[in-house]
Parts: sequence; structure tokens; C-alpha cells
Amino acid sequence: MELNNRTVLIVGGTSGIGLGLARRFAAAGSTVIVAGRDTTKVDDLESVTIDVTDADSVARARDVVLAAHPDLNVVVTMSGVMLMEDLRDPAHAEAAETTIAVNLLGTIRTIDAFTPHLIARGGADIITVTSGIGYLPFPLMPTYGASKAGVHAYTEALRAQLAGTGVTVTELIPPAVATAGQEKVNPAALPLDGFLDEVTDLLSQDPTPNEIVVQAARRLRWAERDGTYAELLEARSQALNTLPGR
Ligand SMILES: NC(=O)c1ccc[n+]([C@@H]2O[C@H](COP(=O)([O-])OP(=O)(O)OC[C@H]3O[C@@H](n4cnc5c(N)ncnc54)[C@H](OP(=O)(O)O)[C@@H]3O)[C@@H](O)[C@H]2O)c1
Repeated sequence: MELNNRTVLIVGGTSGIGLGLARRFAAAGSTVIVAGRDTTKVDDLESVTIDVTDADSVARARDVVLAAHPDLNVVVTMSGVMLMEDLRDPAHAEAAETTIAVNLLGTIRTIDAFTPHLIARGGADIITVTSGIGYLPFPLMPTYGASKAGVHAYTEALRAQLAGTGVTVTELIPPAVATAGQEKVNPAALPLDGFLDEVTDLLSQDPTPNEIVVQAARRLRWAERDGTYAELLEARSQALNTLPGR
């Protein structure tokens, strides 16, 4: 995929990986719009307010973006929350509902809002965002893993449904990256810049791979195939000891 001369909307681009990727597209010579609930966090890029849990907000943001940028040809669905849950405490349900509303339904709503435009353009890209945790669960974040496994399955079906339309569908599968507080709790989290170097190299390949899997994500993406799944899941389950009362 070309990273220059594109018109790119990154929904969930007001911080972290999304903002970093937005700056990479901008540095490559593309026009970039970032979207999120709090656009005051960004002062170096054009931005638009969106809450992906609210269908009206998504439709409004779509109208604003397409009125100003009828040549929009890349949409990235980056919005996500990463919440811990104790499944022995029924109060986890609120976190579960928020996670599905943002990560899974928010992705679906955003794609629905822009797909007719992207098909009409004829040559466009949708980039969805999952996680290594969608392939190898992290038991402290059960609904998070479920939401990302859901986005993976949805992405596969979307790619099949859009085949022949000129719209390419690519799944970005980050491992732990040092954003959103990960840098404080996970010493293995990748520095954002190094992660983005790998991501932009992989995205630039022609043809673009269906899945963008940086080196550190491969052991998660392929654990089941590699026969390491049970062992890695057991190791990741140790984190449950950090829950109160365990
Ligand atoms: N960091 C990691 O280790 C890691 C690993 C694997 C996958 N990922 C995925 O990568 C993506 C970005 O994560 P990050 O680490 O960069 O976290 P982040 O800095 O917290 O970014 C999350 C983005 O989602 C937006 N967002 C949250 N709720 C929203 C809502 N209701 N409506 C619209 N936008 C919303 C936030 O913007 P506002 O707050 O302005 O709304 C922000 O722009 C997420 O999908 C995450 O699951 C991250």
C-alpha cells in the first residue's frame, strides 16, 4: 500500500498507536485526519470528534470528513479500550459491555459508515486493528481478547465481501506496545517508534500482506500452529494473581 499521497482517517488516532501512525502517514506526504472523543489532545493534525459507541456521532463525523475530504481513501479503525476484569465478580459486566461497544461494535459502525464511499472510490484501504491477545488470550482481559478475536473474524469476512471492489482490507495485529499505560506495567512492551518502523515497512509491501504482524507479535499470532499455545497461556495466567483476593 502507498503511504504517500493518500487521504487517511484514523478513528482512534487521538493518542498512542493511532496518533503515531497518523504522524507516519503525514510525514510520508499524506493528508491525515484523526478522530476520537477528545480531539484537544492533538494540535498538529486535523481532527474530528467521534464516539464510536454512538451511531449518530459516527454518522456526523463521517459527514464532516467526507464534506471536507471527498477523496478520502484510507480508513483505520483504531479505537479501543483495554480493560481488566475479574470474572468471579459480576460487576465486571460493565467493563465487558464497554469493551464490546468500543472495540467490536465501534469497529463495525465505523466500517459501515465509510464502506459505500470507499467502494465508490474504487481504490481504497480499510485497516482494522486487533491484538496478539485476540490469538493468545491474556486472562486478565477476557472481553478484550474476545472483542479482538471478533474483529479478526469480522475482518476476514469483510475482506471476502469486498473482494473485487478495489477496497483492500488489512488487519494490524500489535503485540504489547508502550502506549496507554503499558509502558508502566509491561517491561516487554515495544517502544512505539520501533513498532511503527516495522508496521510502515510491512504496510509498504506490494501487495500489502493481509495481516501486519511485527516480529514480536508472531509468537502470539502463531502459538496454536507452533504448539506453544498451552504453555504460553499458562504463563500468561500468572497475571491473575495480581487480582485482589487471589
Ligand atoms: N498498546 C498495546 O499494547 C496494544 C496492543 C495490541 C492492540 N492494541 C490496540 O491498538 C489500538 C490503540 O491502542 P493504544 O495503545 O494506542 O491506546 P490509546 O492510546 O488508549 O488509544 C486508544 C484510542 O481509542 C480512542 N477511543 C477510545 N474510546 C473511544 C470511543 N468511544 N470513541 C472513539 N474513540 C475512542 C481514544 O481516543 P479518545 O480517548 O479521544 O476517544 C484513542 O485515540 C486499540 O485498538 C488497542 O486495543 C494496543
